[in-house]
Amino acid sequence: MVQRKIVILTGAGVSAESGLQTFRASDGLWHEHRVEDVATPEAFARDPALVQDFYNMRRAQGAKAEPNPAHHALARLQADYDGEVVLITQNVDGLHEAAGAKVIHMHGQLDQALCATCGHRWAAPLEMQAQHPCPACNAPTGRPDIVWFGEMPYHMDEIIDHLYDATLFAAIGTSGRVYPAAGFVREAKAAGAWTVELNLDPSDVARDFDNHIVGPASTTVPAWVDSLLA
Ligand code: APR
Repeated sequence: MVQRKIVILTGAGVSAESGLQTFRASDGLWHEHRVEDVATPEAFARDPALVQDFYNMRRAQGAKAEPNPAHHALARLQADYDGEVVLITQNVDGLHEAAGAKVIHMHGQLDQALCATCGHRWAAPLEMQAQHPCPACNAPTGRPDIVWFGEMPYHMDEIIDHLYDATLFAAIGTSGRVYPAAGFVREAKAAGAWTVELNLDPSDVARDFDNHIVGPASTTVPAWVDSLLA
């Protein structure tokens, strides 16, 4: 008997109804800021203050946000499902944890800082200075613990292992624009998983999914979780 295992990938759409901006909507972060200015290692080397300001702004936004019914439903699924539920997020907000879920952050976390010199991690202050001193080695090389474009996402080996033994793969609120996350559906499908996309609109990889549930996550995710727990 195959052990039932649900692997879920979330993107910015799952936090949209908590008031956090997505990236590619018309009012999204990448319409107000250039990736090249705030989300690459080169940008940080060139102008650390500009990059820290961008993440300080996002930390301030995140501090005011609450989990919505989608975050709570996914935590409930993890708690009540009679099988394994692995939650992977591209988001750097802490809303899945705030709802009580265990989550793998593949793009890092806003509430953590990382020392570019010694690799030490610590709880990021709401306002990080441009050349933030590292509490461990004191070098002025503290940076947001965020995976920038051109950097390798975190926990990829663990994530691939999960995809290979998933019986159900779901992508929630992600545009399917950024790899490797956008390719997870194909990995899971090749390993025999049933795949479903929950989104307001079809993502760039919608055609790779077996099923689509269209609508806002705070409505579709609780209903989807109810159907899995029935
Ligand atoms: N309910 C469900 N889906 C929604 C909602 C909602 N209320 N609001 C928006 N969406 C969907 C959009 O239709 C879109 O498909 O969420 C998706 C958001 O897409 P993006 O803004 O591209 O965000 P995401 O897919 O998470 O981006 C992936 O790109 O910039 C990088 O590192 C960044 O992790 C991010 C990655």
